[in-house]
Order: sequence, then structure tokens, then C-alpha cells
Amino acid sequence: MQFQDTKLRITEELKNIADLKQLKNFSNKYLGKKGEIRALFSGLKDLSLDEKKLLGNEINTFTEKIEELVSEMELTFKSIDRSKKKISDPIDIELPSIAPEVGHIHPLTSVKKEMEAIFELMGFSVVEGLELEDEWHNFDSLNIPEGHPARDALSLGKTFYLKSGGVMRSQTSSAQTRYMKKIKPPIKIIIPGKVYRYENTDASHEINFFQLEGIYIDEKVSVANLKAVLGKFLEEFFKRKVEIRLRPSYFPFTEPSFEVDMLCTVCNGKGCSTCKRTGWVEILGCGMIHPNVIKNGGLDPEQWKGFAFGLSIDRPAMMKYKINDIRLFHSGNLKFLKQF
Ligand code: DAH
Repeated sequence: MQFQDTKLRITEELKNIADLKQLKNFSNKYLGKKGEIRALFSGLKDLSLDEKKLLGNEINTFTEKIEELVSEMELTFKSIDRSKKKISDPIDIELPSIAPEVGHIHPLTSVKKEMEAIFELMGFSVVEGLELEDEWHNFDSLNIPEGHPARDALSLGKTFYLKSGGVMRSQTSSAQTRYMKKIKPPIKIIIPGKVYRYENTDASHEINFFQLEGIYIDEKVSVANLKAVLGKFLEEFFKRKVEIRLRPSYFPFTEPSFEVDMLCTVCNGKGCSTCKRTGWVEILGCGMIHPNVIKNGGLDPEQWKGFAFGLSIDRPAMMKYKINDIRLFHSGNLKFLKQF
């Protein structure tokens, strides 16, 4: 019978194939649309229906088997070719290897984590505020009504307003009253996060920077507690005795208010671009929470007292790592990032 002969011939031929090129020729000859196996089907037309079915099935099974063998052989030949190539072109073991790219934690992220850890040791919990805020929390609840001069004095006039309503928070202080309403005192939390201000950028100003806000509310909280917490924090953060000065200041949300300056660690007080050539870097604002703010947080200012502070994360990071341009943080410059 013709099919049995063809079958034998094909199987025999397949056995003798020795490389990829011969295999290609074989495929073309037998398996293609115009291949010999296809042609076998035309021989079926003179047979009875039953015979047609029987032989048709046999041809199909055989074809599948051959196709399977061909693809297996193809893989084997290819792998043989690859190893032959390797032998004729061996690896030069003296070539320097390609070092894998190692990711880096951004200096701002590691400084933020470091700060959080110090405050956590002092019993503060880390919470998050909202980056998209409403005006009431960003301003009014903090005793800064519309038209209040502090909006400009504190650069808060540089707030981004959204057409759809709301503001991109210009200070993490906006979370203060949110948490007063959420947590029953005593409240001892820090709120780190990104703030937004429409600034002309230069070595010490960015449109985006990070702040870390802290509040402690209890029945008996004093300026002495505030000083102790901040002093301890700065010492732990800079891992040495730090020289600081406390200046009376003004914030609408604290009374009394202070600003804490630190002797510039980049230039040791000589004057550089980080400290705007003054030798001192204003590191944070703080004070005793104003009774109006406590009230806006839904608490009774007769019963509850508290302190608050807000510091930039960027600036202490610059001082710690002697970075003289705040814009480097968001520059995406790998040479800069790889140093940390
Ligand atoms: N929100 C102030 C700012 O962005 C910083 C600040 C000052 C926060 C005094 C406070 C504070 O909690 O008590 O300039």
C-alpha cells in the first residue's frame, strides 16, 4: 500500500538527518502545504467512506508524530550548535564582569525613617496626613483666617489651589486638628510628609519638600517638655552634641512660639549656601498649641494643653550629609544618589 511505503521511507529518512539544515529540507519536502504527506490525502478520494475514515485518521496521527519529532530534533540541533559555538569562541575569563545594578534608598527616605525611629523611641506614633487638603485644615483650623498676614509671612500664600477645590497642603500642620478629632488624648504623634509651595527654586528652596510635624497633647504639657524632646531628638539625629538657639517667634497656631536654629554643620558656622551665609540654620518651628486650635480639634483647651513642632526633613538631611543644594534631591542624578 502506498501509505505504508511512504511511512517507512519518511521514518527512515528522518533517522538519517544529522543537522538543522537537513531537518529544514525534510520539513519542506514532507510537512509543508505542498508536502508529500498532504498529497497522500488526495489518494483517499477513490476509497469507500469507511476506508477513507480509517486511513485518514492514520495519516493524521502519523503526521502529528512526525511534526513532534521534528520540533524535538530542532531543539536538539540548535542546542548542539550553540555549544559548538561556545567551544570555538570560549569565554574570556579575564574580562571584568558586569556588576548588577544596585538600588539605593533615597537620602530623604532614609532620613525620614531615621527621624521616625527616634520619635518612636520617645513614645510618638507615626501617622499620615492628607496631601490634598481643604482650606479649613490647612489654614482656618490653625488660626489663620483668610487675609491673615501669616499666610504670606510663613510662605503659606504660596499654596497651590486646585480648580476643583482644595489645596495641596503647604504645611503638615494641616493634619493637627484632623488627629485631635480622631484620637482621644493623650495624643503623641508625628506626621511626616510632602508639602507643596509655589517657590522660585534655588539652592535652598524647592516646590516640594518634606516636613515632619509633631504634636503632644495631654493634661500637663509644658515648654520644658518641648525643649527636652527637641533637644534629645537633635542630639540623636546628628549623633553628637548640637549647638542650638531658641528664638521667640510667631506662628498663629502656637502661643508662645519659638524657632530653633542650629549651628550649620556644613560650614561649622562659617557661612555657606546651606545657611545663607549666616552660620545658623533655622531648623524648626514650635510652640505651645494655641487654645483656638485645640478648640478647632474638638477638645477643651481648659483641660488639654499641648506642644507642636514642625521641621523640614530636607534641611537636616542636607546638614547631615553636607549637601549644598536642595534641588539635588529631586534631580534624579544617579551620581548624587549612589553616594548614600
Ligand atoms: N507649619 C509651619 C511651617 O510650615 C512649621 C511649624 C511651626 C509647625 C510651628 C508647627 C509649629 O507645628 O508649632 O512653616
